[in-house]
Order: sequence, then structure tokens, then C-alpha cells
Amino acid sequence: MRLTLYSSRRELFRLATREYPFPRGRVGGNLNLMSNCLRQRFWVLLLALLPITTILGPRQVFGQTPLTVPNGLPAWTFNIPDKVQPPTAPVTGLVHVPGSAKEYDAEKIAGNANPPDWFPDEHPAAPRIVTGAVASSDASRHYTGVAPMACGSCHLMSGQGHSESADVAGLPVEYFVRQMQYFKSGARKDDVRMGPIAKVVSDEDVRKAAEYFAAIQPKPFVKVIETATPPRTYIATAGRHRVLVPEGGTEPMGHRIVEVAEDVFRMNVRDPHTGFTAYVPPGSVARGKALVESGSAGKTIACAICHGDGLKGLGEVPRIAGMQPVYIARQLICMQNGTSAGLAAALMKKVVADLSEDDIIAISAYVGSLAPR
Ligand code: HEC
Ligand code: HEC
Repeated sequence: MRLTLYSSRRELFRLATREYPFPRGRVGGNLNLMSNCLRQRFWVLLLALLPITTILGPRQVFGQTPLTVPNGLPAWTFNIPDKVQPPTAPVTGLVHVPGSAKEYDAEKIAGNANPPDWFPDEHPAAPRIVTGAVASSDASRHYTGVAPMACGSCHLMSGQGHSESADVAGLPVEYFVRQMQYFKSGARKDDVRMGPIAKVVSDEDVRKAAEYFAAIQPKPFVKVIETATPPRTYIATAGRHRVLVPEGGTEPMGHRIVEVAEDVFRMNVRDPHTGFTAYVPPGSVARGKALVESGSAGKTIACAICHGDGLKGLGEVPRIAGMQPVYIARQLICMQNGTSAGLAAALMKKVVADLSEDDIIAISAYVGSLAPR
């Protein structure tokens, strides 16, 4: 995870401008991570300019000058679609999920404007910003030129989301609102999804969404399993989900977290009752527990001081227990490399500064294995 030193400014420029070798494009509204890669290069460039920014003084560069950048993009945290995609049959026609009397047309619920609400009795009445049923008068007031992106589509009506989005169930209202401000200002960067969404949603709708999701109790949604041989998987272009290869089989774990849906069909139709399995390297959970509980002799800081007992949240500091390990790892990496640098996230700077990618894997595995409530 340490900074790679590049030989010359010319090399830095080449790195900063080179096309990233992954497919570009927009599928089902879930977008690729081109911008994350460019951003990384931006930090490399910024480091080249460091002597100049240092002269300008600390105020101008506060929260923006990371001393480390990930040595190579840890692609597994960003669900970057694989170049080779096995053929899959699209889901069409009327669909159902176990335990729900509802029925939806698969194509109508596939985009990001019309999320299915399989279990309406399990959550409070949802505001229109979450359900996507935006009246045309609202559309012209809040969403000029941009299609409404219903929060319930990527985050599910339960708020628990998929690993490439985020689990927002039960988050403190003020924390949630603050993240939307960070996405809007670019302090927390997600240029293709939350950035553009946060720019067009009104403050009033943000608060309504925050209050809605805050009122939902998160349930255990991910199982963490240690193994040296996880199932063979690939990242599908549609939805950017990690799924099993059709031939089956296993492959070496390596240094990553392999998170797959318990049931791909139910995940694709956004059933909030089907969760995830996160395969992690052997020994990760115990190593993560030591880092989380004691800080492992100054390597990091014990998380419960700020995130509360059982990491279930404390005041405006969010719950992290039971969140999806791939999401947790992505946040730690983004905070480490400066992609997520909101003012309040400054409290996380020392926590992440000295963590290696293996530490991040271990911490995320352990935190993900905890009960959310
Ligand atoms: C196209 C998919 C998509 C839609 C639609 C969407 N989100 Fe997100 N959201 C994401 C992704 C992806 C992330 C995680 C970004 C990251 O990794 O930092 C996220 C993260 C968030 C977070 C941060 C959670 C945390 O724990 O810090 C909040 C808050 C949030 N979204 C709110 C909303 C609201 C409000 C709406 C509706 C107006 C919405 N989102 C609609 C994809 C989406
Ligand atoms: C000194 C206080 C402090 C400590 C110690 C701390 N955190 Fe945090 N953490 C925060 C704050 C504050 C935020 C929210 C920042 C914001 O509001 O934008 C946060 C946010 C996070 C997030 C993002 C949550 C989300 O929903 O996106 C993760 C993940 C996280 N912390 C993990 C950890 C882990 C793991 C540890 C221990 C190794 C830890 N933190 C220790 C203060 C702390």
C-alpha cells in the first residue's frame, strides 16, 4: 500500500493520463470506475507538485495531500467488471421472491428509477426520493436534465444495499446528510454515482431519505467465511456484481475479499432478504479482531473508542458492524488515499495511515462478521 516512487515528472504525467485498461460504460446505471483510476493518477500528479503546495501552506492542502497512495488499484474493492463476460440470460417477464406476495415486471425494476418494494411492511412509509415515484413537477424542480435516481434501487428499500453500493440502514441522520454534502462538494469522491446524485437532490429530500433509512434496523446481511480456495467468480458488467463462473470450481484466495450473493437471481431483482457471503483469507478474522480491539501496538487505533461498543455506532459516528467487508475495505482505502476526505473523516486519518492492504482485508473481515445490532 506504500507509495511507489516514480522516476520522473514525465512518467507521472504518462501515468496520470493513460487510459485505464478496463471497459468503459454504463450498464444498468451502475457505472464503472474510470474516475477512481483517474483520481488515483491525480494524486500521483499532486505528489509531483507537493513542493509547490507545501509552500502555499497547510490551509490550502488540508485533507488533500495524502502521503501514501495505493500501490496499484485494489480492483477487488471496486467491483470492476471483468473483460471476459460469460454469456448470461437476461431476467425477463414477471418475477417473484420467496415470502412476498408482490410481483414485478423484471425489465421495469431493472433500472434505477423504479425499485421494487418486496416487503412494504418491513419499513416506514418511504418518501418519493427513495421510491423514485417523482411527480413531473418535482422532476422539473429538482432534477433538471438528470434522470431521478431512486435511493431504493441501489440501496434497496431495506437500505442494506449490495457490496458495490452501501449499507445505509440505521445510519445516524446527521452522518447521512453530511455524506451527501461531501459527495456534493467532492470532498468524498464518487464522480459517477453519488456525486451526480448528491448534486441534484434537494436538501429537503436528502433529509427525508436520511430519516427514512435511519428508522430501519439493519439485519445480519453478510456471512464471513475463511478459506484458501473460494469459488471461482467474475465481476459481471450488469450491476457490477461478483458472481460465480458458470463452470463452477474454485481458485486461490490471494490477497482480497471475494463477496458473492447468496442467490444471484434474488439479488438481481433486489430482494432485501437475500444477503452475501464474503470469502476471506484464512486467519483474517482473528487478525482483524486484534487490530480492531487493541490497535495492534500503535498500527491503528481501537475502533470502539469512536464507533461505540460492538461497533454499532456512537452519536453521529456510524455503525460499521455487519457492513459488507468489500464496502468497509473500499472506505478504508479511499480514506487512506484521499478519495474520501471530508472534514469529519479527518478523525479516520491516523486510523488508516499505516494499514497495509492485508490489514485492511483482516479488519474488514472481522468488522463484517459482527452483528449489526
Ligand atoms: C446508482 C446507484 C445508487 C443510487 C441510485 C443511490 N446511491 Fe447512494 N451510494 C451508491 C454507491 C455506489 C455508494 C458507495 C460509494 C463509495 O463506495 O464511497 C453510495 C453511498 C451512499 C451513502 C454513503 C453511505 C455511508 O455509509 O457512508 C449515502 C448516504 C447514500 N449513498 C445516499 C443515497 C441517497 C440519499 C440516494 C437517493 C437520492 C442514493 N444514495 C442513491 C450508489 C447509489
Ligand atoms: C478517533 C475516532 C475514530 C476511530 C478511532 C475510528 N474511527 Fe472510523 N470513523 C470515525 C468517524 C468520525 C467517521 C465518520 C466520518 C464522517 O462523518 O464523515 C468514521 C467512519 C468510518 C468508516 C466509514 C463508514 C461508512 O459508513 O462509510 C469506516 C469503514 C470506519 N470508520 C472504520 C473504522 C475502523 C475499522 C476503525 C478501527 C480500526 C475506526 N474506524 C476507528 C471516527 C473514528
